[in-house]
Amino acid sequence: MVKFTDIINTFIRGISRSKVSLMGAVLTTVTFPILLVASVLDLMGIVQNPYFGFIIYMVLGPLFMVSLVLVFIGLFFFKGKEEVGIFTYEYLKEQFTAPNRFAKVRKLIFLATALTLLNLFILGLISYTGYHYTESVGFCGQLCHKVMAPEYTAYKNSPHSRVRCVECHIGQGAQWFVKSKISGVRQIFAVAFNTYSKPIQTPIHGLRPARETCEECHRPELFQGDKLYIRDKFLPDEKNTHLQTVLLLKVGSGGYQGTNAHGIHWHVAPENKITYTHTDTAREKISEVRLSKPDGTEVVFTKATESTDGSEGKVRSMDCIDCHNRPTHIYLSPDEALDQKLVQGDIPVSLPYIKKNALELITRTYASQEEAKNTIATEIRARYRRDYPRLVNNNMPLLGKAISGIQAAYTENVFPEMKIEWNTYRNFLGHKNDSGCFRCHDEGHETTSGETISMDCDTCHVILAEDEASPEVLKTLRGK
Ligand code: HEC
Ligand code: HEC
Ligand code: HEC
Ligand code: HEC
Ligand code: HEC
Repeated sequence: MVKFTDIINTFIRGISRSKVSLMGAVLTTVTFPILLVASVLDLMGIVQNPYFGFIIYMVLGPLFMVSLVLVFIGLFFFKGKEEVGIFTYEYLKEQFTAPNRFAKVRKLIFLATALTLLNLFILGLISYTGYHYTESVGFCGQLCHKVMAPEYTAYKNSPHSRVRCVECHIGQGAQWFVKSKISGVRQIFAVAFNTYSKPIQTPIHGLRPARETCEECHRPELFQGDKLYIRDKFLPDEKNTHLQTVLLLKVGSGGYQGTNAHGIHWHVAPENKITYTHTDTAREKISEVRLSKPDGTEVVFTKATESTDGSEGKVRSMDCIDCHNRPTHIYLSPDEALDQKLVQGDIPVSLPYIKKNALELITRTYASQEEAKNTIATEIRARYRRDYPRLVNNNMPLLGKAISGIQAAYTENVFPEMKIEWNTYRNFLGHKNDSGCFRCHDEGHETTSGETISMDCDTCHVILAEDEASPEVLKTLRGK
């Protein structure tokens, strides 16, 4: 009879005689406790640092697995002067055929099973937590800090700041999961070798069709109604005059409990299918729009459109991101950014000409966010101490507040390191610069019988007030 301890001894002797196994064993012993403690800390959410996750799942985890494999490679395959092959085929055959040896084999199998189970458990734990790590906002948004800083910053300030990146960028299902991991590996190389483009080019090709991701949470064929849209603006005058624009946006729906599809979300009703041909990569130049109606007829609107960047005409089915291309990475224009800070009180409206001064400072070109912040601080301080010494000296915090508000308006939207300036990324929701809705709704696309896609201002909204100081309509609505 062979004792169990003998087997362990053989095992250990085998390891100690094989260089490969020995190296593997040392590495395993060192990484195992660290890995175990670290992944438990991560699972319990005690350490919340994206680099921590990176070290556990991208460095220690694979190292542990490789070293385990090394131990076994050493035991099985290496033979020669120093290397052993204790589990070789000949060895196992001998054990199985000699009847009195069978007990040893059983123990061996027992040992192997126990070790494998333990390893599987650890590997399972690492894969599980590792999988969650690669799906986390920290991994997507913070790890490659410089590269993702613009998207992450804009995301943090958006309505989707609690929706994980992967919900929109990957969605459910194995096929997209695999695609995303392959693309992820490519991106890691692009970052490592600094070959990624600055700014990151959009539209993103290979983004999962929006209908499969957005509709996990939003169902425009099930929501309806008009929406009051209020836009606050401040003039660059001494008083920073506050104006408001009020629209009733015909958000509509793709049909709702008996109502037909209508308004803006009419485009995404199940029965309407719109495809369009664009002659540039940005999808701004549209040469043809095809509408398939429920009764099977097709309406084709065309417009002579030259390709501006040499791309060939590409056909695309219209979906959510043809309007909502910036649902979460929302970069504002200089005016919008400042107006937002002014209306929130982050920049005090009581400072004379603050909008004008701020606008002039944030639209300059800077080499970095640091430089911009420094210039904004020194310039604002200098100007107001010179022009309004009494006001400023009586209320020092006012100036500090204005400075940090203006700095935020800049740093939330402009990222010189990634070559993202004001208006680098277009927002299609609306019709700024005749883009967005007006790519199609320009009355320039015609059917053979001369019909066009409406540009009538009342198609999409009712303008209740435009750039008015305390508009009547808001007073009425608020019962004043
Ligand atoms: C609500 C859905 C949504 C979420 C959440 C989201 N994204 Fe996006 N993302 C988009 C859409 C839509 C685009 C634009 C696609 C296009 O124009 O082709 C985009 C574009 C991007 C781009 C290309 C550059 C740009 O600014 O357009 C990057 C990089 C990016 N996202 C990274 C991230 C990261 C990192 C996170 C998490 C911190 C994230 N995204 C979260 C929907 C989302
Ligand atoms: C995992 C769920 C989820 C996914 C996926 C998702 N959203 Fe959202 N969306 C939300 C939540 C949560 C809000 C915020 C609701 C609130 O604050 O009232 C929101 C808000 C919005 C709003 C309103 C924003 C505003 O200004 O009030 C729009 C528009 C929107 N989402 C569009 C999209 C689009 C387009 C996509 C696909 C690219 C998408 N969402 C994907 C959960 C999601
Ligand atoms: C033709 C352009 C267009 C398309 C296509 C479109 N939307 Fe919208 N959507 C809008 C506009 C415009 C608004 C109102 C804008 C605002 O709230 O500032 C809006 C509002 C919304 C809102 C907020 C509703 C509310 O009551 O506040 C959600 C959520 C939304 N859309 C989701 C989607 C989803 C999901 C899809 C794709 C299935 C989609 N939209 C397709 C233009 C569009
Ligand atoms: C890719 C082209 C395209 C884009 C971009 C587009 N539309 Fe449309 N839209 C159409 C077509 C085509 C029709 C149908 C015109 C017709 O039947 O005469 C339409 C019709 C409409 C209608 C009338 C729906 C009804 O009840 O019959 C509204 C409202 C509308 N669009 C709003 C918008 C808004 C808002 C945007 C931008 C956020 C937008 N559209 C962007 C192609 C587009
Ligand atoms: C195809 C639909 C469509 C048509 C046609 C249209 N608009 Fe708009 N318009 C929008 C949408 C959508 C928004 C809201 C954008 C947003 O959510 O930021 C908007 C916003 C606006 C705003 C507010 C912009 C701001 O300051 O934030 C004004 C003003 C405006 N439209 C004027 C007009 C006028 C004038 C016309 C007629 C020449 C017109 N629009 C035609 C869809 C349309």
